[in-house]
Amino acid sequence: MNNPDVIIIGSGIAALTAANQLSKEKNVIIITKSGVNHSNSFHAQGGVAAAIRSNDDWHSHYTDTIIAGCFHNDDSNTRTLVQKGSDYVKQLISDGMPFDQRKDGDLYFGMEGAHSKRRIVHAGGDATGKAIITFMFQQLNDNVSIIEYEMVIDLIVHDHRCIGVITKNANDKLITYYAPSTIIATGGCGHVYATTSNDATVTGDGIAIAYRAGAKLADLEFIQFHPTLLYKDNKVLGLVSEAVRGEGAYLIDRHGNRVMQGVHELEDLAPRDVVARTIFHKQNKGEQVFLNIANVKSFASRFPTIHHLCNEHGIDVNKSILPVTPGAHFMMGGIEANYHGQTSMEGLYALGEAACTGVHGANRLASNSLLEGIVFGHLASNDILNNSIKDRLVPSGDLEKACKQGEGKLINHTVLPQKKELKDKMMKYVGVIRNAKNLQKMKAWLEKYDFFNQTLYELSKNEVEIVNMLTTAWLITTSALERPESRGGHHRSDYPVQVEQWCKQRITRHIDEHNF
Ligand code: SIN
Repeated sequence: MNNPDVIIIGSGIAALTAANQLSKEKNVIIITKSGVNHSNSFHAQGGVAAAIRSNDDWHSHYTDTIIAGCFHNDDSNTRTLVQKGSDYVKQLISDGMPFDQRKDGDLYFGMEGAHSKRRIVHAGGDATGKAIITFMFQQLNDNVSIIEYEMVIDLIVHDHRCIGVITKNANDKLITYYAPSTIIATGGCGHVYATTSNDATVTGDGIAIAYRAGAKLADLEFIQFHPTLLYKDNKVLGLVSEAVRGEGAYLIDRHGNRVMQGVHELEDLAPRDVVARTIFHKQNKGEQVFLNIANVKSFASRFPTIHHLCNEHGIDVNKSILPVTPGAHFMMGGIEANYHGQTSMEGLYALGEAACTGVHGANRLASNSLLEGIVFGHLASNDILNNSIKDRLVPSGDLEKACKQGEGKLINHTVLPQKKELKDKMMKYVGVIRNAKNLQKMKAWLEKYDFFNQTLYELSKNEVEIVNMLTTAWLITTSALERPESRGGHHRSDYPVQVEQWCKQRITRHIDEHNF
């Protein structure tokens, strides 16, 4: 099916929610550059935050979301997230999604940082993403085709309208697909950084593709670093969910002193940016930080994934001390999208972490990301079903030929850096704490590479990934240089406080304003 009604790039929760809704009336293809389970959604541990408990209401969830977001949030979209979120999560439960229950049959609500109450539903203990993604795949009907191991290289744009995509398949063959609507749901950019919780496939592809095509992007300087990645011998082993702290674990230094006491009134359950910076400062002084899990009841059964991870890497959970470090976890910015997931480009939608609807402000509240995928996956598919452009535009042979052959110069394969060098530099210069000098250094290093003029069709998939990583790193770095304040996931040692007039200001990026 090379000409479906809707192309969805990515296979996480936003992609599957949209595919499920759209496939009731439309033909859909899901294209993913790896296997379908390679998404951050699949690895999500904590759960889905939703105000569905009898003692809860959306106002409270909204307030927690905007406080964590440092008030940079888009108020209207944030209200939509939490209001519609509770309806859609209830619907998911009534459709049969098996969230964990207590012995009395009530849902088990977890607690995470910056939430004022327990409101996180989870499944398989700490295997929520796997359970939801598996459930959603089971719901897909025959109108959905899934294409794995095929990488979208670029969007096909005609008269400022997205009319399809160009891919490279498993055999490196170029393929074109045309559809009236295309959805980017490729997740964020964790692997632009050396230390990250993200799936290895998450390299900023959707961000770079949208930028090259001419869609508007926003808030790219806001990167969330998760405070507790399991860490041994200078290697990140995986995530230790914030839900572990929600069940009583706390951060300590090597003498057993509590790290978060006196830093924030919520202590270990302070917003993620606060906890991550505190650990980062300790580590900068050569101190190690650990998570003490002695207080967590039934650790092995409540957190089987983390328990298994520890066992696998020789970390003895019976000693109750897990070594942790912060790492890149979530991108608050992305492709600017409205309530319906529509971007600035006709025919192009962006969903989930790849999108910037403003619901996360400067720092996402824990477990609001799966919720975002569910809510905006529904809203975008409603929009496509009700209002979308019906006509498919298949360009003349000339454009197709141009797409296939590429325009401009041939590639000099030596001009791209190694991924490791890029990731290490991003961690060092555009990481948890930034300053103008380091950001300028990073910008200058990135601009040595002529990545905007590459003819992507000639490159290997790995090289396209490097180009996408360079592009995304450049967008983050230049946006971070432009924000002269510290807010949430953007902290500058040379501008260490929040500045009121910057609260709602968005730094945007558009290729027409591109200034290298
Ligand atoms: C976690 O389980 O700590 C991560 C969940 C999230 O990113 O919200």
